[in-house]
Amino acid sequence: MRVVTIIGNRPQFVKAAAVSRRLREAHEELIVHTGQHYDDELSRVFFDELGIPAPDRELGIGSGSNTDQTARQLAALEPVLAEIEPGLALVYGDTNSTLAGAIAAAQAGIAVGHVEAGMRSFDRAMPEELNRVLTDHAADLLLCSTLTAMENLEREGAVGEKYLVGDVMADVSLAFREIAEQRSQVLDELGLSPGEYLVVTAHRAGNVDDPARLRQLVELLEALPAPVVFPVHPRTRARLDDAGLTGRLAGVELTAPLGYLDFLKLARHARALLTDSGGVQKEAYLLGVPCVTLRDRTEWVETVDAGWNVLVDLDREAALAALARPLPDGERPELYGGGHAAERVRDAISAYTDSP
Ligand code: UD1
Ligand code: UDP
Repeated sequence: MRVVTIIGNRPQFVKAAAVSRRLREAHEELIVHTGQHYDDELSRVFFDELGIPAPDRELGIGSGSNTDQTARQLAALEPVLAEIEPGLALVYGDTNSTLAGAIAAAQAGIAVGHVEAGMRSFDRAMPEELNRVLTDHAADLLLCSTLTAMENLEREGAVGEKYLVGDVMADVSLAFREIAEQRSQVLDELGLSPGEYLVVTAHRAGNVDDPARLRQLVELLEALPAPVVFPVHPRTRARLDDAGLTGRLAGVELTAPLGYLDFLKLARHARALLTDSGGVQKEAYLLGVPCVTLRDRTEWVETVDAGWNVLVDLDREAALAALARPLPDGERPELYGGGHAAERVRDAISAYTDSP
């Protein structure tokens, strides 16, 4: 069957890297890049490092408000889907590209598969939560990372076929761990010793768009008790500059967004990660690195239950207390499918398309 993969953001490139390879063993795949992320360091580097096939169509939509960006993506997708005539459209996660892909396909009568279906933060103020809920209820095939996600969809009465496949980001993290170890020189380049530094990422609109919250974030970072590396997302860079706060972070190593291999190696050897990213919370768990989440809730609740992730919002004292905790004892339970999620996505698509 012909499957169109619709992607446009950094975390979606990582997810598609896992699925594309497996999907092409059984189906024809065409990739449409919406252009939501367009800087090389947020887009091209992932195609190059992770071996994702070059996009078949690039929509070049670029940035905008959530509504404007989603609307322009929708309008651009309609003729492309009509031309490609796929049997299924595959979308990932919770960004504006996810929602636009799902709606454009559903309106065209094309079956929609959603990878990472059913994740919920129960915070409707997040644009991502709206995108997730709407996408799940437009989708025909709901491919879930966790049992919690399956239960969320059950409770909401989502009508698509549900499959527990595991998490495709985990596949990539596990597959590239040793490659990153060998290829990346990031620790030497930044003069860091394993286990002695902290890594920060922050880009959530709820943390960086409001100047008061941004100031709180900066105050938290200033108080951290070890060398800090902070690869800065362009949204955050712009907000820090606008608020005149960049200079306050003189004690922090601010870098451009890193490629996947450098980030993976940096994360693996960190003493802890502080983040508001969904993907980075999972990756910290898989790497056995403690995570301090700069939000008051998470979709990845299992990492908290297992003791490896602490939600501190932007509370400086809570963050310092979380960093001072001893490491959790014992083995980390297998939460995310053990590196086989993409195979299960492929098989679920095959089963779906073979069914009468
Ligand atoms: C988007 C997703 C978010 C995801 C994140 C991954 C939505 C609503 N948000 O947030 O869920 O976690 O991607 O990183 O879809 N910019 C650049 N260069 C680029 C892209 C963006 O400079 O290549 C700047 C622009 O000023 C833009 C801002 O970053 O306005 C925000 O970009 P946007 O794609 O709207 O949202 P993200 O914050 O990246
Ligand atoms: N990542 C990266 N370089 C960075 C920061 C993050 O390669 O400088 C990777 C990270 O390993 C993960 C993905 O980007 O695989 C997460 O994307 P992001 O935090 O932008 O989005 P979210 O997961 O929050 O939607």
